[in-house]
Amino acid sequence: MEDNNQILFICLGPRCRKNNSESFIKPLEKILNTKIDSDICEEKIKLKSSLCMGQCKDGPNIKVNEKIYNRVNKDVLKKVLSIMKSKILAK
Ligand code: FES
Repeated sequence: MEDNNQILFICLGPRCRKNNSESFIKPLEKILNTKIDSDICEEKIKLKSSLCMGQCKDGPNIKVNEKIYNRVNKDVLKKVLSIMKSKILAK
């Protein structure tokens, strides 16, 4: 079966954790109505934890569709979610 869900990876490697990447988990779980690393996602966006993405000095980092977003904050998260949602609506 084809999986049309998009995946937002949060880096939980040691350096990104030090830069508070874990603080993204709760708000994203709430917005997306899912749990990190769960396969159940009503909004068609899965939330996954990731090991180090190899760009520690620019963290905290997230990754969507092979693109890594650096220095993530609330505004970056909002922008990325809006891009992901527009892709879902375009399907
Ligand atoms: S710990 Fe996140 S990129 Fe290395």
